[in-house]
Amino acid sequence: MGLRGTRLTVCYNGGVKDQYGREIRDLRISLTDRCNLRCVYCMPEEMVFKPREEMLTDDEIVLVVRAAAELGVRKVRLTGGEPTVRPNLVELVGRIAAVPGIDDIAMTTNGVRLAPLAAPLAAAGLRRVNVSLDTLDPEKFRRITRRGNLADVLAGLEAARAAGLYPIKLNAVVVRGFNEDDVANLARLTMEYDWSVRFIEMMPFGGVAGFQMNAYVPSSETMARIEAALGPLVPLDLTGYDPARTYRLEGSRGTLGFISPVSEPFCAQCGRLRLTADGRLRLCLLRDDEVDLRTLLRGGATYEQIRERFRAAAYRKPWGHGLARHVIPRQRVMSQIGG
Ligand code: 5AD
Ligand code: SF4
Repeated sequence: MGLRGTRLTVCYNGGVKDQYGREIRDLRISLTDRCNLRCVYCMPEEMVFKPREEMLTDDEIVLVVRAAAELGVRKVRLTGGEPTVRPNLVELVGRIAAVPGIDDIAMTTNGVRLAPLAAPLAAAGLRRVNVSLDTLDPEKFRRITRRGNLADVLAGLEAARAAGLYPIKLNAVVVRGFNEDDVANLARLTMEYDWSVRFIEMMPFGGVAGFQMNAYVPSSETMARIEAALGPLVPLDLTGYDPARTYRLEGSRGTLGFISPVSEPFCAQCGRLRLTADGRLRLCLLRDDEVDLRTLLRGGATYEQIRERFRAAAYRKPWGHGLARHVIPRQRVMSQIGG
């Protein structure tokens, strides 16, 4: 209790800041680079996954979360690849939820395995999910994901709602030639459901960067398509750190968001660090700057050494990405970082 009290005092004095004064509040943890889908905007068709022994263990992940929480991180988002393909996921979520200081755990998932998992995950402490869904057309869904069944995701969404995971956010990456005509149908979901449907500009990574730049659709075009089909987008003045610009349709229950990392970078408010499944702290989604924690974790380092490495890494977080100057991350594709 005494120890815990001391930690919390440290936290409430303000979290760790980077060299530009941005508070690091948000840790995104990739639990695996594997996935049961192969989305065209995320990875090449013949994706090669990393050997399992390179992945952090549950104990290693929990230790990093403890250190992060002690330094002021309040929010954890679990990602992948696809986080639900990691063995022992429910127990791991329970252990992360039990770390003092962590008050929000969310997950970004493709929803395929959510139907059986939503209730146990919620019971273990998961608060909410972002489900990737790029189209409501089963044929197009299969084409974009190269193998998925839309019905599995819709069942997963229903299970998430029934389990009380709230709010439910949908993420759609808009890809020219695949789903740019589907954005109005996705937006229409907000008339019936109190979901937040967000449209994401496709970002370029590694070996698929050529495709990604050719099939990129700016948010301005997506917004125009939605307005042409469904009427004016009414801006909402939501404060907070959401990178999405938020709107609603007249009479809707849910909201629409536009995430525009390419056309309107939101780096100035970024308080995120990412932990890759192979144990690197990635300082910016779109830069290859990483700090190795796994070697420390496996080399007999003390908890304090891990925490101090985390603190030093957070301080070094770069100001923003370099897409405008054609600096594209080359070392990893999206599924190896986790979004
Ligand atoms: N650009 C933008 N978003 C992407 N995602 C995957 N690849 C890309 C990309 N190239 C999104 C997925 C998922 C989240 C993990 O990242 O749709 O919602
Ligand atoms: Fe898998 Fe998500 Fe990448 Fe699609 S976007 S291949 S679901 S990790």
